[in-house]
Amino acid sequence: MNAGFHSLAVTRIEPLTDLACAVQFSVPAELRDAYAFTPGQHLTLRRPPADAQAASQEERRTYSICSTPQDLAERGELRIGVKRITAGLFSGWLTGELRPGATIEVMTPAGRFGTAVAPDNDRHVGCLAAGSGITPVLSILTSILRTEPASRVSLVYGNRTSNDVMFLEELADLKNSYPSRFTLLHVLSGEPQLSDLLTGRIDEDKINLLLDGLCKDVDEWYLCGPLWMVTTARGALQAGGVPSSRVHAELFYVGDEPPVPVSAAAAQHADSDRSQVTVTLSGRTSTVSVGYHGPSILDAVLASRPDAPYACKGGVCGTCRAMVTAGSVSMTRNYALEPEELAAGLVLACQSHPETPEVSLQFQ
Ligand SMILES: Cc1cc2nc3c(=O)[nH]c(=O)nc-3n(C[C@H](O)[C@H](O)[C@H](O)COP(=O)(O)OP(=O)(O)OC[C@H]3O[C@@H](n4cnc5c(N)ncnc54)[C@H](O)[C@@H]3O)c2cc1C
Ligand code: FES
Repeated sequence: MNAGFHSLAVTRIEPLTDLACAVQFSVPAELRDAYAFTPGQHLTLRRPPADAQAASQEERRTYSICSTPQDLAERGELRIGVKRITAGLFSGWLTGELRPGATIEVMTPAGRFGTAVAPDNDRHVGCLAAGSGITPVLSILTSILRTEPASRVSLVYGNRTSNDVMFLEELADLKNSYPSRFTLLHVLSGEPQLSDLLTGRIDEDKINLLLDGLCKDVDEWYLCGPLWMVTTARGALQAGGVPSSRVHAELFYVGDEPPVPVSAAAAQHADSDRSQVTVTLSGRTSTVSVGYHGPSILDAVLASRPDAPYACKGGVCGTCRAMVTAGSVSMTRNYALEPEELAAGLVLACQSHPETPEVSLQFQ
């Protein structure tokens, strides 16, 4: 088994909507420290190929944790919320075929999205989520409401219809338990509501109305949903005077956004030229020869270091984060690293191609 993965037993599968369910895992006492997480982080699940010889067909997908650190510490429970995608391989398996009692290989938690909770915090947290984007947000807001008695949370949650709302009852229960500290607004794009604010997509006008109204004193924002929603919200919050350092976002999928063209430095090298890329991972160093225009550094490294961390291979999940300690690389896509992380030298190995004859990377 690859480093970071453990087999966890599925203890419960709870239908949430026609297309979505919550999957609960049991974490044995000896692994609880390894699975300790910050609300907002995610798990990578691995499904080995049906035919053990066909190692290249292993599938991995990332799912945000929707339960709280308290659930893990007290009962050894970890939970994810999965929405089935049309023709989706992994989400179809998790929502349609998986049964309690099965075991799944689950990587220890990762990701930079989220917030550390502390009983002394006194803050107003604003959350914007759409569809399955509620999963990390549910963990964040439940943890804050339970642990920080002085903090408030406002959630704006967009869906098409009320039948599509994941965790509908759980959110209503939270509202009942914390009526003065939790504001819950369901916005439905395909079902008329009493107010215009609550009908339609979460667009710039809606965000401006929220900023003028109940969200004007929000200290930190947590956004999770499709690329258009996150991009629109970031723009509207910035235009409304919210510093970007107070806006945190997680993306699940970016579709076919075009990759960045090959960098000028890489373009100077012939197709047959190779760079010597040295990677350090789990204290062990390996050197691989990587073309300037071919597969990514991650793909080249995986041939000799199958323990290299990855999930989406699409520049979205951030599991393959690495620090460049010598030489330079260019990336084709980046939806996971913040500008300050890029400035510090972090890259996504799955999107990186060498620019110099020698490169050194340290996986994080
Ligand atoms: C950091 C992170 C956290 C995530 N957390 C969650 C979560 O909590 N809950 C959850 O349900 N999903 C989550 N995802 C998405 C999840 O990892 C899978 O991408 C998703 O379940 C689809 O996988 P699949 O194998 O079913 O679809 P695939 O077989 O990979 O794809 C089938 C088709 O659907 C398209 N597609 C893939 N993903 C999406 C999508 N999200 N929306 C629209 N079209 C898509 C593909 O391009 C392809 O055409 C997360 C992703 C990331 C990167
Ligand atoms: S594996 Fe997901 S960003 Fe690289």
